[in-house]
Amino acid sequence: MKFEKHIFICTNERAPGERKSCGKAHGLELVQCFKKQLKDLGLNKTIRAQQAGCLDACEHGPAMVVYPEGVFYGGVQVTDVDQIINDHLIHNKPVERLVINFSESD
Ligand code: FES
Repeated sequence: MKFEKHIFICTNERAPGERKSCGKAHGLELVQCFKKQLKDLGLNKTIRAQQAGCLDACEHGPAMVVYPEGVFYGGVQVTDVDQIINDHLIHNKPVERLVINFSESD
């Protein structure tokens, strides 16, 4: 496997008046922040962060998912990036307060 972890961050942006979207809620800023932090920590060869289209978690956005675990995070703020990197990406402990608990209607 090329990467130990792979993070997809939704940057989908919908037109005004349409359903909520992560792109309008700083999704791209999150991508840039993850990329920069991972690079600064020298982790960008083993952990890849990249933008993604809609992850079908729009109402929980800004949304992202971490593989191989398949853990979805919602309502992610730029100020959460360091904790996600430290707790989850480095120490394998998902940040429970941000984990999306999908209901059957999601
Ligand atoms: S717009 Fe981000 S999950 Fe759908």
